[in-house]
Amino acid sequence: MTEQAPTANRYYLTTPIYYVNARPHLGHAYSTIVCDAIARRKRALGVETRFLTGTDEHGQKIERSAKLAGCTPREFADTIAGEFRGLWDRLGISYDDFIRTTEERHKRGVQHLFAKLRERGFIYKGRYTGQYCVSCEAYVDGPPGTLCPDCGRPTETVSEENYYFKLSAFERRLLEFYEENPEFMGPESTRREVISFVRGGLRDLSVSRTSFSWGIPVPGDEKHVIYVWLDALANYITALGYGSDKPEDKARFAKFWPADMHLIGKEISRFHCVYWPAFLMAAGVEPPRSVRANGWLLFDQGKMSKSRGNIVRAETVDEVLGADALRYFLLREIPFGQDGNFSFDALVQRYNGDLANGYGNLVSRVVNMVHKYFGGVLPEAGAATEAETALRAHAEAAIAAFGPAFDALNFSDALKALWGLVAATDIYLTANAPWKKPAGRADADHEALQARVLATAAESIRIITALAYPILPDAAAKVWRQLGLGEISEAARQAFLTNLAWGGLKAGTRFGEPAPLFPRAEKDAIERMQNLEDANNRSAVEAAGGQAQNETKAAPAEVAAAAPAKAPVPLAPPAPSVATAAAVPAPAAAAPAAAAPATPAAQPEAAQHITIDDFAKVELRVAQVLVAERVPKADKLLRLEVDLGYEKRQILAGIAQYYEPEKLIGRKIVVVANLAPRKMRGLESNGMLLAASLEGGAPVLTGFLEDVPLGARLK
Ligand code: MSP
Repeated sequence: MTEQAPTANRYYLTTPIYYVNARPHLGHAYSTIVCDAIARRKRALGVETRFLTGTDEHGQKIERSAKLAGCTPREFADTIAGEFRGLWDRLGISYDDFIRTTEERHKRGVQHLFAKLRERGFIYKGRYTGQYCVSCEAYVDGPPGTLCPDCGRPTETVSEENYYFKLSAFERRLLEFYEENPEFMGPESTRREVISFVRGGLRDLSVSRTSFSWGIPVPGDEKHVIYVWLDALANYITALGYGSDKPEDKARFAKFWPADMHLIGKEISRFHCVYWPAFLMAAGVEPPRSVRANGWLLFDQGKMSKSRGNIVRAETVDEVLGADALRYFLLREIPFGQDGNFSFDALVQRYNGDLANGYGNLVSRVVNMVHKYFGGVLPEAGAATEAETALRAHAEAAIAAFGPAFDALNFSDALKALWGLVAATDIYLTANAPWKKPAGRADADHEALQARVLATAAESIRIITALAYPILPDAAAKVWRQLGLGEISEAARQAFLTNLAWGGLKAGTRFGEPAPLFPRAEKDAIERMQNLEDANNRSAVEAAGGQAQNETKAAPAEVAAAAPAKAPVPLAPPAPSVATAAAVPAPAAAAPAAAAPATPAAQPEAAQHITIDDFAKVELRVAQVLVAERVPKADKLLRLEVDLGYEKRQILAGIAQYYEPEKLIGRKIVVVANLAPRKMRGLESNGMLLAASLEGGAPVLTGFLEDVPLGARLK
């Protein structure tokens, strides 16, 4: 039996809840902005909408990040959750609820769900020995040394007595469910991937851990904490009051569950389309109606993410161009469901082309002319000529195209159609030139033309603005006031999108004062955004240094002894005691430069200068060796696991003949962090160590005399 929800005129949509181990960036803002636009449109269509977002705060990853930062997981989570919430408020995200998985209401709900699953016979105890990816908080099939298939990072071997969820019992039911609900997941690529995953066979899922404690305890067996994905996914129901006996919670849950849409990033489809409906079916709760996956926002050719160090913050774009510019760019530029590139160039180009010169300029011309020629009071349009009839037909076609495209998540097409109307209105205005009185035209005729053209153009602007409101809420609010229509938020409450019929703007309406909407971005806009990002990156490293000091261990004595007395960064040639970025790659990977090492005191003859930008391409970072071991049957190779502060990774290095692996553990070194991964002896190496290469002698690993935080960049 499933708990039935009434299908009222209501809509419940959710973002993923964001991990608090990383500060928010544009990649996170993307899903949230998409949801916000959908929520605003639904509300303006008179649908009772509930929009949930929040933060995912438990798990080993957070526990470790907090430890590295020298604070408790709770303090750590409080800070980053505050940043997420602060950013959404700054961007005007209209969420109705913000859930944190550390809240009591969530904990209660998750424990209720766990108990329910156990009571209904879907949870049993067993022992798990295998690989676990801490970064993805996911179990991985394969022997020790297996890399995570999702993120490519090394997995850890865990062996624990765990609670298991009988996922295998849901294989057939899930496939039937997908078949019966073709709208359940999308886009098509996600659907195919998920179905083939389930067809490949489902194994029972370990849903508790004992190796760490930062989580929600299993009810009645507190040394276990509930698996973070079971904990996290449940937020969608605990935020509605699932598991609570209070009448208001029960009513909210009954009203809004099942969710209409979970909007997620494509890499977490399996959790949402396989595990989540299975958990719910097992608990006797209806699955959500749909899950939709967005693609990734790419920057510098890679997924924007903290671990790659290629993030851009939403605050930066907001500060220079405003939140609406960001919203418009993301929805217009990236066909939903596909990966999309973010670049400051493309952003500024869209901003200037579509917003400053397009919509903004159109509004400003019309509003100013109504003030100039009619004292700010909208004149009567009078009888329509062919030109007005054509513009009206265009507006009606735009209304007809916009809604279905938007509602099918084709935001880019919807906006393209709407900006077609912006262009048509512009052309109409220019063709009729109400500012120019040709010689020989009677005053009365000219005034009639001005009235007709300005009233028609203003009506078109009203329609554009109403439709664009979910994407450009700030600008739309300003234009609404300038058109003398008052507060657009109030109009949205009155479901103004249900009635967009031509002619809504009445003659006699007193216009508001003209106010700039999208001032043209000058050449320095890009530079300003880049500078803001650079400044932020610098202060983030400094902050990491400050925070990490409590935790970072003093460098072991032998490291200090071996460390060169100078910074190992080739800031300015010549660097007398350290060869420039001489690396110690594995023999198989030896790059030409490393194969022919420079002598310690060698100066580059006719130095080929590189620019600072060239140098900046090499990401040198401080890392600490956590694990070091010989690679079987490869006498030169060591397998290292190093901690970069923000992530751990595996690096293979050809130093086995010079360094005892045990002596390396705990040592701080410098790695090239952005080197393309490569495979050696079947193992993936993600980066390269830096060492002085001495002719005919042993390489000397880099190190520091002073304590340095992990992840600090050398530049
Ligand atoms: N905590 C889990 C989600 C649990 S939902 C019950 C998680 N968190 S996350 O912070 O790593 O990612 C949250 C969302 O942000 C994901 O949907 C992810 O795809 C999205 N993005 C993070 N970086 C992104 C881009 N560069 N581009 C687009 N979205 C990306 O996963």
